[in-house]
Amino acid sequence: MTPRPVRNADVEGKRVLVRADLNVPLENGRVADDTRIRFSLDTLRWLLDHEAREVVVVSHLGRPDGFDPAYSLAPCAERLHAMLPDDRLRVRENIRFDDRETANDPSLAAELAEGMDLYVNDAFGSAHRAHASTVGVAHLLPAYAGLLMEAELEHLGRLLGDVERPFVLVAGGAKVEDKLGVLRNLGERADRVIVGGKMAEELREDSPLGFAVELPTDVVAASAFEEEAETKVTPYDALPEGWLGLDIGPHSRERFTAVITGASTIFWNGPMGVFEWPRFAEGTRAVAQAVADADAYSVVGGGDSVRAVNELGLADRVSWVSTGGGASLELLEGKELPGVAAIPQA
Ligand code: 3PG
Ligand code: MG
Repeated sequence: MTPRPVRNADVEGKRVLVRADLNVPLENGRVADDTRIRFSLDTLRWLLDHEAREVVVVSHLGRPDGFDPAYSLAPCAERLHAMLPDDRLRVRENIRFDDRETANDPSLAAELAEGMDLYVNDAFGSAHRAHASTVGVAHLLPAYAGLLMEAELEHLGRLLGDVERPFVLVAGGAKVEDKLGVLRNLGERADRVIVGGKMAEELREDSPLGFAVELPTDVVAASAFEEEAETKVTPYDALPEGWLGLDIGPHSRERFTAVITGASTIFWNGPMGVFEWPRFAEGTRAVAQAVADADAYSVVGGGDSVRAVNELGLADRVSWVSTGGGASLELLEGKELPGVAAIPQA
C-alpha cells in the first residue's frame, strides 16, 4: 500500500503539521547520534521551498512519565534549527509529556490540528504506534506521507517483493521475541539465514522456525558479563562453567563473511555480540564490513546495527540505513503500520 505522498500536496501559504521521529539518543543532554534528525530534513526543506507559511514539527523523545526536563526535545530542536535555519519552522516540546499522546486521546489530536491546514507524517520510526500525533490527527487534517516515510516504505518494501538472489538475512541481538516474526516471514523466503548474538543460543536450544539457520560455531567467551572480563575463544559448546559467550568467534566471522559476500540481497538487524564493549565488537564489525563490501542491495535496520555501520564509516556503502527499529521489523513481519494506514492511499 502506498500512502499519498506530500509531493502531491499544494502547500503554498499553508500551515503544516509534521510528525517527525526526532527520538535520538542523548548523552549528557547532547544529541549523541543525529541520524534521525538529518533524515528528517528533506521533508521540512521541501515544505519550506514550496512556500509553506508555517511548519510545526511534533515528535516524542524517549518514554517520559509526564513532564521531565531530562526528556526535553530542546537539544534536538536546536540541532534541527542549526541545520535548517528558517523563521517559519517551529519544533514543539516532547509530545509524550502529555499522557493523552500514547492513549491516542481525541482531545489531544484536536489540539494538534487546531489552526493547521495539512498533516504530514514523516515519522517512519514511530509508524508502528497508534498515538494521537501519528494516527489521531491524521483523521482530522488532510494527511500525507513525508519523503522519509515514502523512502523507508519503498526500500524496506523491496525486501518483501521479488528479490535478487541469493537473499541473505542476518539477525542478531538479544530481543529474540521481537524478531521471531521477521525471522519467520523473511526467513522462509531467504536463501540463507545467519543468526548471531544471544538469539543464536536460544534458537540452538529449541528453534520454532521451520527452516535451517546458520549459527556460530565458536564464540568469544568471557569469565563474567563485564567489559574487562577475562576472555578466550572456545567452540560454542565448550564454554568453561559460568562463562558467557559475548561475541561470535573468528571462525564464525569468516563463515558469516563468506555467506554475506556472496549475497545479492541482504537484510541485517541486530549485533553479533556486546558491541558497545570493544573487545566483544569484532563479530558485529565483521558483519558490517561484509555487508558494506557485498555487491548487493543491502538494508540495515535497528539501533545497534545502524550505530555499528555509522561508527565504522560504512553508511554510504549500504543501500539503505533504516531509521526504524520496531517499525522496520513490524513492516517486514508483514504487519500493517497504523501510522501508514491512517494516511489516505495515493
Ligand atoms: C523508536 O525509537 O523505536 C521509535 O522512536 C519509537 O519509540 P517507542 O518504542 O518509545 O514508541
Ligand atoms: Mg524502540
